[in-house]
Amino acid sequence: MTDKLSHDEIKDTVKRGYTERLQTGSCCGPRPAAISPEGRRRSLQDTLGYAPAQLEGVPAGAVASSFGCGNPLAFADARPGDTVLDIGSGAGIDCLIAAQTVGTAGRVIGLDMTEAMIERAREHARQAGATNVEFRLGDADAMPVDDASVDLVVSNCVINLAPDKEAVFREVARVLRPGGRVAISDIVLSDDAAELPAALRHDPDLLVACVAGAIGESAYLDAMRRAGLTEVAVTERMVYGEETVREFLSCGCGPTGGDQDPTGSLAKLRATLGGKVWSARVVGRKPVPPELARAIAIESAGAADLPALLSLLRSASLPETGVEAHLEHFLVARSAGRPVGCAGLELHGDTALLRSLAVDAGWRGFGLGRRLAEEVERLAVARGAGRAVLLTSTVRELAARLGFVEVERASLPAEVRGSWEFTSCACDSASCMAKELKG
Ligand SMILES: C[S@@+](CC[C@H](N)C(=O)[O-])C[C@H]1O[C@@H](n2cnc3c(N)ncnc32)[C@H](O)[C@@H]1O
Repeated sequence: MTDKLSHDEIKDTVKRGYTERLQTGSCCGPRPAAISPEGRRRSLQDTLGYAPAQLEGVPAGAVASSFGCGNPLAFADARPGDTVLDIGSGAGIDCLIAAQTVGTAGRVIGLDMTEAMIERAREHARQAGATNVEFRLGDADAMPVDDASVDLVVSNCVINLAPDKEAVFREVARVLRPGGRVAISDIVLSDDAAELPAALRHDPDLLVACVAGAIGESAYLDAMRRAGLTEVAVTERMVYGEETVREFLSCGCGPTGGDQDPTGSLAKLRATLGGKVWSARVVGRKPVPPELARAIAIESAGAADLPALLSLLRSASLPETGVEAHLEHFLVARSAGRPVGCAGLELHGDTALLRSLAVDAGWRGFGLGRRLAEEVERLAVARGAGRAVLLTSTVRELAARLGFVEVERASLPAEVRGSWEFTSCACDSASCMAKELKG
């Protein structure tokens, strides 16, 4: 045990600790020290929420040297075309999973302050053949990442280790684009256990074991809010009972680890922490300034928009079929070059079938949906349509406000009824609405 550690001492301790863990394969989080690579893979799937398909393309070394306490990519909604930043990327497991999702139109930045981790992660990216991932050496509280350049920040069991969590969250808010998302798995404490005895809080082994630096859940979320993030919440908790806390503390992390406990202090700690420490799934978002949303341009979609446009539709649970074929009749609302909303139409004779009205969750509430609907109607007129129809179960009220009325599907031309949208929509609950257009 030592006296209070300075921020630099904390970081040096963490760097040393994780360099050693890379060499020994020891752990952070609840699992036995001498676990096999296959055992680690199973525990990632059974306990931490990794899907077998996520781990398929990830080199065995990255799986074996993963040190997380959850799987942020299980709830991050990473999308093709996204720029993803993984804070404390370790040996690269989550970056390599994200790289598969964002595809060649997107990219992934892994950031870690431990040189050995960066080297190992680069090696794993080479083994995986991932060309859309880069690893940067740097500190979470002063990240070498441009302002407003990231769509999604993920992090797995890292921020508990950072001595200045407020600064880390300020950095998260700085690097995110407006509307950008946060998905973090991290260790936090129950609010009534948040004040660990000083001797424990400054114990280097307990620090590296992801316990001593953990703070209360409310304090954690408040720090995110103070940094300017919104929609901050814990969506799930994996609470560690006494037995799991014992595994945490006995993962061979020097004097604190192991089963020797001559003074009984570890038993006391287990009893103190059992049920009061957990791995939390934490989400948040960088808010969109209203003036930015109001000033957003609505433009014709181009081929380069297609991946982002399709993922926008996917996250709104709208069909992607036919979008590419009708791209010339699609509009996008673009912020800093990236689609954050879209609407399109298909021309069937003189009838325009309006479809694919979607606004990114972070950009809702600013009237963008209405503007897109009005613009796509104008586009229909410009393309010679005399009538607009749509099939909807989500924007019925908006359509009614814009003058659409419910009609029988049978009253529509056969070509419209034969369109993919109509033939594939088995849902009777969807309203069929139409409006005569004035040229
Ligand atoms: C528990 S490990 C998790 C690694 C990885 N996220 C995973 O799931 O395997 C913590 C990692 O965070 C890094 N780390 C800790 N504090 C950091 C900081 N302030 N800035 C950057 N990296 C940090 C460590 O070097 C280590 O690689």
